[in-house]
Amino acid sequence: MKKLSYLVTIIGVSLMSVNSFSADVKPAPNGIELPENYKDWKVISQSHRIDNNSLRIIIGNDIAIQAARAHETNPWPAGAVLGKLVWKQKNDEHWNKAIVPDKFIHAEFMFKDSEKYAATGGWGYARWLGLDQKPYGNNEQFTLECFACHTPVKDRDYVYTTPVSLP
Ligand code: HEC
Repeated sequence: MKKLSYLVTIIGVSLMSVNSFSADVKPAPNGIELPENYKDWKVISQSHRIDNNSLRIIIGNDIAIQAARAHETNPWPAGAVLGKLVWKQKNDEHWNKAIVPDKFIHAEFMFKDSEKYAATGGWGYARWLGLDQKPYGNNEQFTLECFACHTPVKDRDYVYTTPVSLP
């Protein structure tokens, strides 16, 4: 009996950890779900916004990384997902001249599917705010805001980021 309750505890604990990772995060108002393993994606580039003092890394799923490394990103291939993770900046407490990430602001993503997202340039957009990952936007109209600001780089397949050069 003791063994059984031990087992039940283990199952309970592991279910809890699965839940806190995925099912707890609500989809964006347009139905797009948070990609489950994005924290393990590889880096495409990084950026530093000097108007609002924030640092970003731009990451991609396997399809996006393959395209980035092969310099085949105009257009990005079907199934590519680009992510951007944003933090407030601060000076490193041990080395004042270095700028390092502070509070986490948001994670946002662009999903390439030319048919499904034809109305917004072939990309689906979604953003989750803060450490509790609250979906951004009151309704699905929020994607028009994303699309409008990415339209100036239409001739780069709506993507600002140029993959970093690597040896
Ligand atoms: C005010 C303009 C603006 C708005 C609104 C905007 N973006 Fe962007 N986005 C940018 C700029 C500029 C970059 C590149 C610089 C950087 O990384 O911060 C970028 C970069 C990105 C990237 C990395 C790929 C790329 O294009 O470089 C993703 C992913 C992204 N945005 C998603 C979104 C999503 C999702 C929304 C809407 C919820 C959104 N953006 C709204 C301006 C905007």
